[in-house]
Amino acid sequence: MARHEKLLEVQDLKKNYGKKNNITPALNGVSFDILPGEFLGIMGPSGSGKTTLLNCIATIIKPTSGRVLLNGENISAFDSKDLAEYRGSRIGYLFQDFELLDNLTGQENILLPLSIHGTSFAQARAKLEELAGFLEITDILSKFPSQMSGGQKQRVAAARCLISDPDIVLADEPTGALDTRSARTLMAKLEGINRSRGRTILMVSHDPNAASFCSRILFIQDGVIFHELRRKQEEFREHFYDRILKVLAQLGGGSANVL
Ligand SMILES: Nc1ncnc2c1ncn2[C@@H]1O[C@H](COP(=O)(O)OP(=O)(O)OP(=O)(O)O)[C@@H](O)[C@H]1O
Ligand SMILES: [Mg+2]
Repeated sequence: MARHEKLLEVQDLKKNYGKKNNITPALNGVSFDILPGEFLGIMGPSGSGKTTLLNCIATIIKPTSGRVLLNGENISAFDSKDLAEYRGSRIGYLFQDFELLDNLTGQENILLPLSIHGTSFAQARAKLEELAGFLEITDILSKFPSQMSGGQKQRVAAARCLISDPDIVLADEPTGALDTRSARTLMAKLEGINRSRGRTILMVSHDPNAASFCSRILFIQDGVIFHELRRKQEEFREHFYDRILKVLAQLGGGSANVL
């Protein structure tokens, strides 16, 4: 497939929930592009449309209008075969609450997407070992989710998300259920996945600390983008964090609104 300059294009995306007399507008015309290799953050108050946006991109819900293109292809024009491939191996989704299957071990959870897609056992094994090493979960692969810490569960979920080499990782508050230390470890891993492996990531987060690992942040309020911050080359993360806090403070009376 020809490589498109923009990996993902979101064009005037609108989403209304509900019917005629009871409509909740969640997205009111959101447009942005993601270039290959970016680590894009989305921040905004509760109810501003962040999850709705990710779910439209993941084809979990249908937008009311607007388009999403991956490598120049309109995802709403996909037939069922394209859609299965898109969901199964072109995007990876990381959830706040991990969404691991309780009755499967870590290893089984990670390999599940590959078993669905018919990858050979030897290939799967090699990929699993490499990813587990990187994410520091080798020792817990045979444990069940109930025997893992939150941070370990999320790193297992990250391995499951990455094993099929998705074009883009979508993450919705991936540190939301983690303590500060586990959150930092996860973010450092995601940063490594982005920087040293060139994986494109789109992450929603309330947490300015988590968001400070991103290369660019879009701020969304009432279903529209109202600000953008770009981390400068060589800018210290602490400095970028301060700039994020300043934007949040401008959001109607302080960051308490957003955090
Ligand atoms: N299934 C649904 N049916 C009706 N309204 C919905 C539905 N899902 C979300 N909404 C509404 O759409 C708006 C945007 O919700 P969304 O979940 O996208 O916000 P969010 O930015 O992810 O919030 P949070 O930070 O709390 O996760 C809110 O007003 C919400 O109440
Ligand atoms: Mg949400």
